[in-house]
Amino acid sequence: MIIGIDLGTTYSLGATLNLDHQPVLLPDNSDKNVLYTPSILHINGNNAFVGQSVMHMLEQNPDLGVIRFFKRYLGDNKTLHMDGQGDVWYPESVAALVLKKIKYDAEIYASNTVEGAVITIPAHFSDAQRKSVLHAAAMIDLPVLGLVEEPVAAAMHYGLSNKATEQNILVYDLGGGTFDATILNMSDRTFNVLSKDGLTDLGGKEFDEAIANIVYQQFEKSLGRPIEFSGRKAQQLRVFSEEVKIELSSPGVQYISRMCLLGDDNIEVFISRKEFERAISTHVDRTLKILRRCISSANLREEDVDVLLLVGGSSMVPFVQQHIKATMPKLADKIRFQDPMKAVVYGAAIYARMLSGKDQPGNTDMPSELKGVTGYNLAVRAIDSESGRTILDIIIPKNRPIPLKVKKTYYTGPNNEGKMRIELVQFIEDNDVKTMGILNVGPLPSNEANYPIEITLEYTEDSVVVLQAYDPRTGRELEKTFGKEGMGANYLATQKKLVQKAFINNVI
Ligand SMILES: Nc1ncnc2c1ncn2[C@@H]1O[C@H](COP(=O)(O)OP(=O)(O)OP(=O)(O)O)[C@@H](O)[C@H]1O
Ligand SMILES: [Mg+2]
Repeated sequence: MIIGIDLGTTYSLGATLNLDHQPVLLPDNSDKNVLYTPSILHINGNNAFVGQSVMHMLEQNPDLGVIRFFKRYLGDNKTLHMDGQGDVWYPESVAALVLKKIKYDAEIYASNTVEGAVITIPAHFSDAQRKSVLHAAAMIDLPVLGLVEEPVAAAMHYGLSNKATEQNILVYDLGGGTFDATILNMSDRTFNVLSKDGLTDLGGKEFDEAIANIVYQQFEKSLGRPIEFSGRKAQQLRVFSEEVKIELSSPGVQYISRMCLLGDDNIEVFISRKEFERAISTHVDRTLKILRRCISSANLREEDVDVLLLVGGSSMVPFVQQHIKATMPKLADKIRFQDPMKAVVYGAAIYARMLSGKDQPGNTDMPSELKGVTGYNLAVRAIDSESGRTILDIIIPKNRPIPLKVKKTYYTGPNNEGKMRIELVQFIEDNDVKTMGILNVGPLPSNEANYPIEITLEYTEDSVVVLQAYDPRTGRELEKTFGKEGMGANYLATQKKLVQKAFINNVI
C-alpha cells in the first residue's frame, strides 16, 4: 500500500487512498476510533510507547517521563532523551518511532505492507531538518517516495477536491508548533509553488503557554505565594491550558470559569476570550507579517490571491480569522476552511499515490505535476578578492524553480596552504544567516595561490542540498556532501539498531 504521513508537532496522522481515490485516515491498530497519534512518547528499556497510550498513562501518572515536541529539535544533533538503559536518543530517532507506529498501524489496517510513503514537512524546514526526516525514515527502512511541504499538501487536497481550474492559493498553516505560509498557482492539475515562508517557533504551544501564564498569575494572586513547579503540576497546567484554549475558541464562548487543580492547590480560574486574544495578539501579528512577505516575494498583491486556505488546528482560534480580516481586508472573503487538521495528510496520501505511478496520467482525482521552489538563499561565505571583505556569495537565490544544479569556481587566496574551507549558509533575510555546513577541501595537489576549486550545488526535488567539490585541473572529486559533522560514522547504524529494537507498545 501507499501512504501519506503527517509528522506533526502535536499530532501525527497516516492516510491512504480508497478504491475511489478518496483519502481515508489510518486508525490506531488497537482502537479503530482513534484516527490520530499524539506526538508523545515514553521510552522504557526496549519498550516504546507512542501516542494515545502515553496520554492514558499520563492520566494515571502525571509524573511519567515523556518526550514531546521532538519536531522542533529535528536537525539539531542534540540528545533529546536518555533512557533507563543509558541509551541516547536523538530527535530523529524519536521521530523514527512515530513513523514506525504509523507504518505498523497502516499494515494492520490494510493487512498489507507499506510499499511507499510521502512524509510531510514544514515549508520552511532547513536542509538539516529535511535530512533528519529522511534519516528517521531510513532507520525503520520506510520506503520514502518523497517529502512534501505541509501547505503544499493541503493546497493539493483543497484544489483537487474542489475541482478548481486556475487559481492562486495562499495557505496559512498554523499547527501545534510551526507556522507556514505558501502561495501556489494551480493550473489544471499542475501545482506551481510561487513562494514560501514560515516560523519554526510558533504554534498552538505558544497559545497554550499564553493561557498558562494567565492561570499561573491567578494562582499566585489567589494563594498569595508563587507555585513551586513539579513535572506533575506542569503536566496538569498544560492539559488545563489547552482545554481552556479550545473552549474559548468555540462559537459563542466569551469567557470560561472553571476549577483548576495544580498539585494540592485548587482555584477557580476565570479567563475571557478578550484576555486570551490580547495575550496571543503579538504571535498572530508575527504570522501575518510572514504572510505578507510570502505574497510580496511571489511578486503578487493581495488582490491576486483567489483563495486563502486556513490549515492547522491553531487556525481554528477565531481571533486568527478576525485579525486577518481586519488587517488584510482584501483577503476577507477569500478565506476557506476545509478539514484544517486533516488536509495535510490527505494531500500527502494523494501525492504519494501520484509519485507511485500507479494511476493513468489522465486521472482527474490526481495532480499531474508539482513544481517547487527554493525556500531560501543558498550562499557561500567567501572573501572578495578585490575588497578583501567577507561576503555572502549567493549561488542559488530564494524562490527559484527546483530541482536545480549550479556550478561555480572559487580560487584559493595568496597564503594558500593547499586547502580550502567552504562554508555554505542559508538565509531569507541578511539578519538571519544560518550555517548549513562546512566542507574542508584538501590537501590540494599544489599550494599555489589562485588554485581553482569547482563546486556544484544541487537542490533536489525534496529540497535537500547536495554540495560537491572538484579539482577542475584533474577532474578529481575532492569532497562529497557535508552532513552530520561530529556525529561519528556509526551514528546512523547505532540509532537504527536502537529504533529497530524498540517494541512499539501501543495498547490503549
Ligand atoms: N478547536 C481548536 N481551537 C483552537 N486550537 C485547536 C483546536 N483544535 C486543536 N487545536 C490546537 O491545534 C494544535 C494542533 O494542530 P495540528 O494537528 O494542525 O498541529 P501539528 O500538525 O501537530 O503541528 P505542526 O503542523 O506545527 O507540526 C494544537 O496546539 C491544538 O491545541
Ligand atoms: Mg501540522
